[in-house]
Amino acid sequence: MLEPISKVIQDMMKDNPVLAKRMNDVRESLASNPIEILTTPSDDCPYQKCDGKGWLWIKDWSRQNKKDEIDEDGKLIRAEWWEHCKCYEQLIKQREIDKKLDLSGIPPIFSNATVHSYDVGKYKTQDNRDTATIAKKAAAKFIENYPAMKEHGKGLYLYSEIKGSGKTRLASSIANALVKMYDVDIAFLKANDLLSQIKKTFNNDSDTTESEIVRMFREVEVLIVDDLAVEKPTDFAERIFYDITDYRLEHKKTTLFTSNKTIENLGDIYKDGRLKSRVKKMSIEIYMPEESIRDQEAESENAELEGLLFG
Ligand SMILES: Nc1ncnc2c1ncn2[C@@H]1O[C@H](COP(=O)(O)OP(=O)(O)OP(=O)(O)O)[C@@H](O)[C@H]1O
Ligand SMILES: [Mg+2]
Ligand SMILES: [Zn+2]
Repeated sequence: MLEPISKVIQDMMKDNPVLAKRMNDVRESLASNPIEILTTPSDDCPYQKCDGKGWLWIKDWSRQNKKDEIDEDGKLIRAEWWEHCKCYEQLIKQREIDKKLDLSGIPPIFSNATVHSYDVGKYKTQDNRDTATIAKKAAAKFIENYPAMKEHGKGLYLYSEIKGSGKTRLASSIANALVKMYDVDIAFLKANDLLSQIKKTFNNDSDTTESEIVRMFREVEVLIVDDLAVEKPTDFAERIFYDITDYRLEHKKTTLFTSNKTIENLGDIYKDGRLKSRVKKMSIEIYMPEESIRDQEAESENAELEGLLFG
């Protein structure tokens, strides 16, 4: 129960009936509901209960000035303590998602890209807008039907001959959604970087061995292979890449490719037809518009900045 009121306060209350009423109201309210949350609520908490960090500082006014006790169940009873807010689980989940995306190697400029924000209206011709609409719809359907796609080990192959059409952005958006919705592990591999990463392991004392890197790209649940067949690989790189692809096909692991070669034309770069036939089996080809949004962005950025320089 609540503490008796001190003599000093009793005297003050005698002289000031308004204060006396207020004090009584507070005491009555605390007596009927002695548990108070002391954390200042903020909009950062989806329930507006905590300050957005997932913890609530609670005070039990009925235990003020009482010593901590252990109840019959062995539980420590105290006057103040911290407990999880309702948002705590979501916060932890969000942190895990952020960590996964951080480690995935998805280019930071696309870390927040979504399929929803893929702007079909950016392309100038109706043909290109139609192509973009089909690609966007397929991406959204792929995410929606990921469990079925996964069962068949099917991924996507985003193709346009023109650079800057939005292939990497759309592939990254799909990956972002798969992490958020299905909690998958993702790795992003720029096809040409595989060589440099593996090469590094030969001539320095790096802890990561070739097989570790290759194993990671083989086994990760969803792999994005960006810019496949953009450069001619060495025989060695082709062998490693074949090894990764073969393993992923056999284990029905989802792979998203981007390339400026069609699957049919992969043979121009990878002379050994085994790779082409595997990629064909493990992905569905999606045509992206033959128009560069990167060039559009560059033009409008430059026009703006030229104004600063020459205006
Ligand atoms: N539909 C779109 N809506 C908004 N931004 C887009 C869209 N398509 C592309 N972009 C932007 O255009 C730029 C180029 O996109 P991206 O890097 O995905 O192209 P790419 O096809 O992968 O190019 P490359 O063939 O050179 O690898 C990026 O800044 C991206 O954000
Ligand atoms: Mg790209
Ligand atoms: Zn909260």
